[in-house]
Amino acid sequence: MKRIITGIQSSGMPHLGNIINIVLPTIKYIKDNNINKYYIMIADLHSFTIYKNKNILINNIYINAAIWLSFNIQYYNKNLFFYRQSDIKEITELFWYLNCFFPLNRLKLFHSIKNNNNYNMGIINYPILMASDILLYNIDKVIVGIDQKQHIEITRKIAKLVNNKLNKIIFNIPKSLIFNNKLIPGIDGKKMSKSLGNIINIFANKYILEKQIMNIHTVNKNINNITYDEIKNTILLKIYKYISDNDEYSYIKDKIKNNRIGFYNIKKKLFKYILLKFNKERKLFNYYIENKKIIKKILLKGYNKIKKISKKRSYIINKELGFKI
Ligand code: TRP
Repeated sequence: MKRIITGIQSSGMPHLGNIINIVLPTIKYIKDNNINKYYIMIADLHSFTIYKNKNILINNIYINAAIWLSFNIQYYNKNLFFYRQSDIKEITELFWYLNCFFPLNRLKLFHSIKNNNNYNMGIINYPILMASDILLYNIDKVIVGIDQKQHIEITRKIAKLVNNKLNKIIFNIPKSLIFNNKLIPGIDGKKMSKSLGNIINIFANKYILEKQIMNIHTVNKNINNITYDEIKNTILLKIYKYISDNDEYSYIKDKIKNNRIGFYNIKKKLFKYILLKFNKERKLFNYYIENKKIIKKILLKGYNKIKKISKKRSYIINKELGFKI
């Protein structure tokens, strides 16, 4: 039995990339390998590195939880822990210990702070907090997107440093598990990001979703004057490919080849396809967002379920480091 962790920073609507690269494959992986133990964490402390205010912080926790719940994670399954990072004080305690093991110089090489002079200490230490999430539970595999792979390398490095220092294996050396690496473009072809206003939010209401899809940039040419290859390379078709399964994508490719359907109709089809494909999830998401008390209860249960292991592991770590006298 392996221990597997994943999580998404709760900083607003998780973008399509998170859903396609993390949530969907995690759900499938759990179904196919249900002998393992799964840790699905809402990374609210990581979102604190870009704190705006209390209400936004809270609301984003609910959104993050509702996303996972809308995909029907079996939070009641005894092998699954679904919890909020900030509930586990042992994580922040371990975070301090790990900070004292990792050289600043090494951390500075790290990509997200390289080109930014205005970062806070939380952003610098972001990967160390991730290491704490992982090492506290002696995780074997970490489900992440490729952009997080370096964080897992840092986690492995810290685990080895501590084990060496103590001359004892107190931390397992985790591996990253990357299922997909689809860089999903925004509707303007740039990187999908909320601040650029170019996202597709599959949980938005129908009208907004339709607008987002109809606004996907396309070339202003008659469909009969464009080659099939040109169409295939448009942002629209890229987005279509990432969202749809193989059958749907073959279907739309055939339609384009044989019937020469135009961009307008391709967009209409994509819109309908998303509504159909995520119909259940969209309903469940709204249900949970309208019933936040239920989310609160689920997260409290999640905390109670993981409390014992957190304390036990923390006890061992503290003892080995010398804090139990
Ligand atoms: N940093 C991850 C993200 O970008 C979230 C995260 C925090 C995480 N701690 C983790 C993922 C531990 C896997 C394991 O959303």
